[in-house]
Amino acid sequence: MPDRAFAYFEGKIVPLSEAKVSVVTHAFNYGTGCFEGIRGYWNEDDRQVYLFRAPEHFDRLRNSAKILRMEFPETTEQLCDLACQLIMLGEFREDCYIRPVVYKKDEKVGVRLHNLEAGLTMFAVPFGPYVDVDTGIRCGVSSWRRVDDNIAPARAKLTGIYVNSALAKTEAEENGFDEAIMLTDDGHVAEGSAENIFLVRRGQLITPPVSDNILEGITRDTVMQLAREDLGILVIERSIDRSELYIADEIFLCGTGAQISPVVEVDRRAVGKGVVGVITRQLQDIYFSVVRGKHAGYRRWCQPALRQDVPSKA
Ligand SMILES: Cc1ncc(COP(=O)(O)O)c(C=O)c1O
Repeated sequence: MPDRAFAYFEGKIVPLSEAKVSVVTHAFNYGTGCFEGIRGYWNEDDRQVYLFRAPEHFDRLRNSAKILRMEFPETTEQLCDLACQLIMLGEFREDCYIRPVVYKKDEKVGVRLHNLEAGLTMFAVPFGPYVDVDTGIRCGVSSWRRVDDNIAPARAKLTGIYVNSALAKTEAEENGFDEAIMLTDDGHVAEGSAENIFLVRRGQLITPPVSDNILEGITRDTVMQLAREDLGILVIERSIDRSELYIADEIFLCGTGAQISPVVEVDRRAVGKGVVGVITRQLQDIYFSVVRGKHAGYRRWCQPALRQDVPSKA
């Protein structure tokens, strides 16, 4: 971890190295926590780090916590402000990542949700690309099914659920793929290990509905808005069959970490012509200008994190 990284922990901002929990912590033992991942994008022209759609992430965090029967007193505005403070203190002049976590902090043995106290922590670290966004990735349909809403709700970003993602991701990489695509228990396409999925067929964008065991992704929502409003593309939310992956014209994965990651192969079948698709490239171009605060029409999604003027590099 970088020397200058900081965390919000037990109500105070401390050096990241001091933000520690006990091995007895309930969330550590039982996966009873929830989290978010928020990107901060460095804009060299503005000498500014823009937090992308931070309020939406903190609102989703509150919903995930509610599902785990946890509340926290900090308002979304306060949490956005804390995230900015962590970036300022870390003196980040680069892309970065904010990770808030709400967790059952009691040091008690016994699996349950009730009668346990919630803790909220948040840290900020420098962060580059998570998966390839240039040449396209190769995916495999996972033998691991996506968790069902009545098993562990995928719409809540719960720490424990990421075992499902980790099983799929490792299987995919060990089988020679870059990423996994997980199906629902009834065999429909759900999402990647940490990304939502879109297909292009006959010029239309298709993505699984929120009732098909997916995380209700903020990038997914961003992509849908950009496609409709800026490119005039029809976006359809409907269940997707596995075999549609094999005949799609284009496929991409999207998420805060993955951004927009083109998929050029699924289960050793080329997607379209096996190269990054035209619509995917168009969406990437708009997306990267939006997240860096360069698209005037979407500045409302970009919160400047640095308050004082940042001197130019010598
Ligand atoms: C399982 C899963 N699906 C989808 C996403 C994409 O969500 P978002 O765009 O809000 O980051 C993520 C990443 O957070 C994820 O972990």
